[in-house]
Amino acid sequence: MKTMLNVALPKGRLGEKVYSMFEKAGFPCPSIKEVNRKLIFENEDAGVRYFWVKPSDVAIYVERGAADVGIAGKDILLEYEPDIYELLDLGIGKCRMAVAAPKGFRDDVRKTLRVATKFSNIAQNYYASLGRDIDIIHLNGSIEIAPILGLSDVIVDIVETGTTLKENNLEVVETVVPISARLIANKTGYKFKTAQIEKVTNCLKQQVECKND
Ligand code: PRP
Repeated sequence: MKTMLNVALPKGRLGEKVYSMFEKAGFPCPSIKEVNRKLIFENEDAGVRYFWVKPSDVAIYVERGAADVGIAGKDILLEYEPDIYELLDLGIGKCRMAVAAPKGFRDDVRKTLRVATKFSNIAQNYYASLGRDIDIIHLNGSIEIAPILGLSDVIVDIVETGTTLKENNLEVVETVVPISARLIANKTGYKFKTAQIEKVTNCLKQQVECKND
């Protein structure tokens, strides 16, 4: 029996783009295009099994070996620091992690800065590198509301088009780090499935380079 490569794909538009890249890399799985609510698809002939998982969970599946490889945002990798190999920047799902605040905000360095975010670890590390005292307010979504209601002074969040900030009268103060989708691999899986993982990595790399030419 063929060794199957287990791939965790992030559910949604990004995941569909990623699947097409895997298909071109020689790992097709036609059943994935059927319209149904199944979450696992496999093509034994191509030696591949795909799972659709929540984007923020991809790194958990890969770190624990339920998936050999997966595609996760750099934001998730920086926030949770999973013990995995980061193999390739796919150059898609591009956005940035930024500090944002109500228009005209001025930082008063004599006061502890109140920072609302879903990315507490990234925010802690960022402000520690600046030597700035902060108080983290961890939220799970709709972060933009926090400074409007006076819950925080600033937010640390993902900015893609900037529309959410604009429509809530906020603006970017500083960029913390650029973000994009990364191919990641389980450390043990990499040892046992090196040939398949290298094949997929090299082929994805060619596709990324083609797009950049
Ligand atoms: C992210 C982020 C912002 C928004 C930014 O939320 O938290 O709210 O996208 O995008 P924009 O700059 O294009 O407006 P997402 O939709 O990923 O979900 P979330 O509310 O769970 O954070």
